[in-house]
Amino acid sequence: MIILAIDTSCDDTCIALLEIENYKLKILSNVVSSQVKLHAKYGGVYPSLAKREHQKNLPLVFSQATKNTDLLKIDKIAVTVGPGLEPCLWQGINFVKDLAEKLKKPLIPVNHIEAHISANFIGRGPSSSSFPAVCLVVSGGHTQLILMKGIGKYQLIGETRDDAAGECFDKTARILGLGYPGGPAIANIASLGNLVSKKETKFLVRLPRPMVGQRNYDFSFSGLKTAVLYDFQSRSAKTKKSSQYIQAMCTEIQQSIIDVLIYKTLKAARDFKAKSIILGGGVAANSELREQFKSKIQSTKSKVNFLVPSKNLCTDNAAMVAITAFFHKNKKANLLKLKADGSLSL
Ligand code: KG4
Ligand code: ZN
Repeated sequence: MIILAIDTSCDDTCIALLEIENYKLKILSNVVSSQVKLHAKYGGVYPSLAKREHQKNLPLVFSQATKNTDLLKIDKIAVTVGPGLEPCLWQGINFVKDLAEKLKKPLIPVNHIEAHISANFIGRGPSSSSFPAVCLVVSGGHTQLILMKGIGKYQLIGETRDDAAGECFDKTARILGLGYPGGPAIANIASLGNLVSKKETKFLVRLPRPMVGQRNYDFSFSGLKTAVLYDFQSRSAKTKKSSQYIQAMCTEIQQSIIDVLIYKTLKAARDFKAKSIILGGGVAANSELREQFKSKIQSTKSKVNFLVPSKNLCTDNAAMVAITAFFHKNKKANLLKLKADGSLSL
């Protein structure tokens, strides 16, 4: 079966072609056209600009993704219908509506959060011994803990009450005058190591670990952003520009977010007797988060499996949309009723 999938939920125009036979899966193409440079000057995604770019990029990305393929061999077409930025989602939906009519192929609507989780099954397929699983989806728009009892069986057990973890990386990077997206920018600086020697206490930074210790699975990151802002504002002009301070700050921002994510996820895994912990979303591409999750799970000596997609499948892509459509291959959208839903839940 060949599935063509499209995702335009945020600022990346993504199209992929997947060939799937008994879970043996071959990515024929997986094209991501990033608008990062365009949005960098705004320090975040500017929806109307993103919508225009999708409109411009879709035909180009489509010909690139399908250049070696006979379009008549495509069996199903999949598209992300939510959650995400509605003007952007509509671009992908309108594009595939035309295509599905032209090629006379069924259209499968896909949930973007489910797609981030499903990215884990590209290449290995789901095994019943993986469930129940606790899934942590961490991206620019979402921070959710989901109890997964099997493919298509999800229960939201916790989420952020304000900013998403990726949003916190992006906003704090902006305060520090680093680039967009903030996650990779902060991670790169943090990876250089802490330049602050113990004597230079003036550069030390200590941030809160919001909501850790509370008996729920929710998150809150806006207070962390405010703590960064207050600390930054309280520093002298010279300190603000010093690499010691910026490095200390980036290390602490990253560690604070990691501590909270790991604490809450391991608590949920214990409470729900999970057999696996599954990560997904752009923030799951963070090397320190991946490493610290692994070593924390090992140190608890529990037998829980740890699943995380390769880094390029953590950030937005359409291969994850295609595999999700495969899981729901008997679903068929009514083209007249198909619409974008910015706050679609699982
Ligand atoms: O999943 P994604 O590509 O798009 C959304 O659905 O939002 O996630 C994008 C988010 C951005 O906030 C970005 O800063 C963050 O993921 N991100 C990272 C890393 N790479 C991307 N955060 C931390 N470390 C990274 N290496
Ligand atoms: Zn995403």
